[in-house]
This record gives sequence, structure tokens and C-alpha cells, in this order.
Amino acid sequence: MSVRVWLASRNPGKVREMKALLAPYLEVCPWQRGQPPLESGSSYLENALLKAQAVRAETLDWVLADDSGLEVEALDGRPGVHSARYAEEGASDRENRAKLLAEMAGFSGDARRARFVAVLVLLRLGYPALAVEGSCPGTIAAAEQGEGGFGYDPIFVPDELSVTFAAASDLEKAAVSHRGRAARQLLHELQLGGVFDPGSRAG
Ligand code: IMP
Repeated sequence: MSVRVWLASRNPGKVREMKALLAPYLEVCPWQRGQPPLESGSSYLENALLKAQAVRAETLDWVLADDSGLEVEALDGRPGVHSARYAEEGASDRENRAKLLAEMAGFSGDARRARFVAVLVLLRLGYPALAVEGSCPGTIAAAEQGEGGFGYDPIFVPDELSVTFAAASDLEKAAVSHRGRAARQLLHELQLGGVFDPGSRAG
């Protein structure tokens, strides 16, 4: 039997990935009510806590939040916590990618190093908040590649794959991604699951 957990996110890409990553142990349901809080924190952890606590105020069920971003070395870690709104407030994924690619135009080789980071916060009644972090190193591609995924996936090539996340399969991304690593750490902390077997967790 799985435990239902409300995910404090309306990002369809995140929701789809979290459902697949945590099944069959946790049943992830997106929280659709009310207005999401302003992400006013200066760290992924602060923002994840803000998002989780906003939902916690409405339900006693388990609540999970994901705050994540892309950090580019040559840009001193930008877009970082501002990844979702890099081009401007309310920007589309395409606009954010275009801004980043334009900024990276003069950089080649190691100067294109970057990493994705995800912080997950789980709130359960009677327990302290549980926070886990996952990261995935890689490089910013010269141009968009692939049709899958969301956000910056078409321009990020993880070190462990030879194509962008958008050109990789869901299972390939899950095996090496920041969110996949954080989700497996979360299951480990909850003493759920076991050895990660991508084949058994397709979703
Ligand atoms: P937030 O966590 O809601 O602040 O948004 C994180 C933003 O980072 C997303 O909107 C994406 O732009 C980006 N992001 C986070 N994780 C991923 C990923 O797995 N692939 C592509 N982009 C991501």
C-alpha cells in the first residue's frame, strides 16, 4: 500500500517525474488549490520549505515540495534559484533557454560547465521536516537538442549521458538526474524501496 503525498507544484514536468520516481512507495498528487507562495527565499531549501508549508497549512496529509535550478559556473551559479523566471517574471521555458544560450555564446569547453540541483522537503505530522538534495553535473549544449522533458532539458548534457536530457529517455534521465538522486535519497531516508532498479520504476 502506498502513502498519498501532496506535491506542492503545478509544473507538469516535475509532477510527472516525481510520480514515476516515487512510485510504488508514495502516491504523488499535485496540490492544485489556492495560490502558490512567492518563492522569496535565497536558497532551494528555503523555497522548498515555503512551498511545502503553504500546503501544510491546508492539509494534515504528507506534503512534498521540490525546489530546483540550473547553476552555470561561468555565470557565477546563475540562473540558480531564479531558474523558473530567468528571462523575466512569468517567462516561458523557451524564453529562459534562449536567454541562457545567448549569455553562453562566448563560452566553449569547460567554460560551459553547469549542474542541476534539486532540494526536496517532506513534511509529515509528528516528524521534523525531512530535506534531501540531489545534483547532476554536466555542460550547456551549443544549441537545443531533443523534444522531451521540460525547462532547460533541451540544452543540458549530463556527464553520464552523451545527449541532452530532452533527447534521453525518461529512465535515462531518472537514473542520473538531480531529481532522481534526491528522490532515491528520500526513499532511503524513509527506509522505503531498496536498490534502485530503473526497470521496475518506469512510469
Ligand atoms: P522552481 O523549483 O519552481 O523554482 O523551478 C525550477 C526551474 O528550474 C524549472 O522551472 C526549470 O526551469 C528548472 N528545472 C528544474 N529541474 C529541471 C529539470 O529536471 N529539467 C529542466 N529544467 C529544470
